[in-house]
Amino acid sequence: MAMVLAPRERQAGERRVALVPAMVKSYLQAGLQVVVETGAGKLAGFTDDAYREAGAKIARDMPWEEASLCLTIHGVESESIAALSPGAAVVGLLAPDSDAFPRDAYEKAQVRAFALERLPRISRAQSMDALSSQATAAGYRAALLAAEALPRFLPMLTTAAGTIRPARVLVIGTGVAGLQAIATIRRLGAVVEAYDVRTAAKEQVESLGARFIATGVGAEAEGGYARELTEEEKSQQAEILARHVATANALITTASVPGRPAPRIISKAMVESMAPGAVIVDLGASGGGNCELTKPGKTTVHAGITLVGPTNPASGVAYHASEMYARNGYNFVAPWFGKNGALNIPAGDEIYIASLVSGALPDAEASAGAQTEEEGSS
Ligand code: NAI
Repeated sequence: MAMVLAPRERQAGERRVALVPAMVKSYLQAGLQVVVETGAGKLAGFTDDAYREAGAKIARDMPWEEASLCLTIHGVESESIAALSPGAAVVGLLAPDSDAFPRDAYEKAQVRAFALERLPRISRAQSMDALSSQATAAGYRAALLAAEALPRFLPMLTTAAGTIRPARVLVIGTGVAGLQAIATIRRLGAVVEAYDVRTAAKEQVESLGARFIATGVGAEAEGGYARELTEEEKSQQAEILARHVATANALITTASVPGRPAPRIISKAMVESMAPGAVIVDLGASGGGNCELTKPGKTTVHAGITLVGPTNPASGVAYHASEMYARNGYNFVAPWFGKNGALNIPAGDEIYIASLVSGALPDAEASAGAQTEEEGSS
């Protein structure tokens, strides 16, 4: 009978947890044993008792060596990886491209590392897509952060004390997070304009009741993602966006290009063109910022403009972000479930080949040689 672990996240400021009580039952039904670290769900609103009632065991010391699968948000520390048995799997948003990724520890312990950010965006993987679910949480949170920092109402109000004009909000980058930010801020009654380099975004923006800004720059790349802009495209974009930035009460930026630093779209001069009291929420903060003045992880004020640079906005809605993440994780590993609580990772499935960032899939191990190396380094 395979054992599944859900450890407490160690990263500073992280409130989410990779497994929620409501999902424990699904693992038990597959014949697996579930062990959750004491207090793992506390900051997200899930008590140890709730996990116990769902059938999980709560442990202060994780039985690493007995586990076959470890469900995490950010992965586990090197000492924990070393304690896992060869062939065990760690699943999470492992940031395999960052310097902090403990590649050596995984290789030495022969532990398989699956990075959910490498999932191919194919229909079959949509229910496993943790980047999308967490971007939904981040976009929602960004709208609330903007509303909170703004010294204005968002909706139009007609009162005995006069009529209040609705706030003008500009959203730049309308992928999953940006669209959710638009939907949320629209529900609060603001007038919203939005922009993305992908022309396909126009229809989605308009369907949410926002106005799409055309800059004449289209930069779709492979897989529906954006590519980096040329210098010429950047200045064309900047020229048109500058007018819209200057009149916005709140600006939410979510622009991102996979594997690259956050594109710099908002210059110091653009910030200074905004009226005092305006707010910028920069979801590009963890990638260095879409705005040149953003301080990642901080809220600062420049020339009367509040700049909010959240580096883990999804953690701010930890309960539902965890719930969605836990379902993504379950959908990712469910095809591994075999008879009598065994775990068999299907080799040859593009989902696991693409997301495996250390170790090898079982069949590849058996056949060894060149194929193993190729897949292991993907
Ligand atoms: P992302 O987080 O990689 O980027 C956010 C947004 O920033 C994107 O819409 C991108 O076009 C935009 N952007 C990049 N550079 C920009 C610039 N210089 N100026 C303005 N905007 C800029 O994107 P996300 O949310 O991961 O979505 C990317 C694409 O993947 C979208 O087309 C989305 O609909 C699609 N998608 C498909 C899924 C599936 O089929 N399973 C799941 C999730 C997203």
